[in-house]
Amino acid sequence: MDEQEAFMPVPETPAYAAFSDLMQTRRSIRRFRPDPVDDETIKLLIDTVRHAPSAGNAQPWDFIVVRDKEMKEKIREIFVEQLRPKYKMEQLRDRGLWFTGARPIPEPAAPFCDAPVLIVVTGDPRLQDAYWYRVKLDKGHQHMVSSLATIVYSMHLACASLGLASHYVSDTASPDMQTHLRSFLGYPEPLWAYEMIPIGYADMTVSNRFVHESEDFVHWEKYDISRHRSDQEIKEHIMKKIRPQPKPKAE
Ligand SMILES: Cc1cc2nc3c(=O)[nH]c(=O)nc-3n(C[C@H](O)[C@H](O)[C@H](O)COP(=O)(O)O)c2cc1C
Repeated sequence: MDEQEAFMPVPETPAYAAFSDLMQTRRSIRRFRPDPVDDETIKLLIDTVRHAPSAGNAQPWDFIVVRDKEMKEKIREIFVEQLRPKYKMEQLRDRGLWFTGARPIPEPAAPFCDAPVLIVVTGDPRLQDAYWYRVKLDKGHQHMVSSLATIVYSMHLACASLGLASHYVSDTASPDMQTHLRSFLGYPEPLWAYEMIPIGYADMTVSNRFVHESEDFVHWEKYDISRHRSDQEIKEHIMKKIRPQPKPKAE
């Protein structure tokens, strides 16, 4: 019996089954019904995700919960406006690599503003002083972003666990959005907007998307250089798997 065979696999637990199901069923939902989500539900979500890990336990986040319709419309307007140059730039790129997979780039829109609740997650860089001093100097920003990413993803999982729809709105961090959101919502510098999380009920279904098999990216003991992909292979992978071309319509 070799060393590996001597180990028994860890038995699957109900918590693992529930977690695995959540990982596989959580999806980005980008269209929302107008049905309200009550404040108690939002508090329930936040009360769970506040336990998320963060570098140095600094918990460098604030959540601004926006429910006001007028404010959501102001956010929609500036969001759409800042998309215009982004979309123009995309059209100047190698067409095969277009974010939309060579489908026409759509008109700028912000359907997430139909969600009853938007949570703007801000980060406070002053909390980087909670890290070791060298850590603050060499990866202060990275640690902050990773910590913010952790609580945001926790929030998406928490939403999915309650049957609520959510998605990432990462242009929240664009310079245009930063400036406008700060003036709309009143948080001072050096706080900065990291992400926005619309929360509500799904008004769309999602199709399957490409997910790697674990053997595609797992290397046991050492990186298997024989599986290392060339630059061209990476480009083809993006075009064929991640941003596939639309299938030709049947005659
Ligand atoms: C860091 C990060 C930023 C993202 N930014 C956006 C975004 O700005 N808008 C959006 O619609 N989806 C965004 N997404 C969602 C991804 O497009 C999505 O997770 C991915 O296509 C897989 O689909 P799924 O979430 O349904 O599994 C982001 C995801 C991550 C992790």
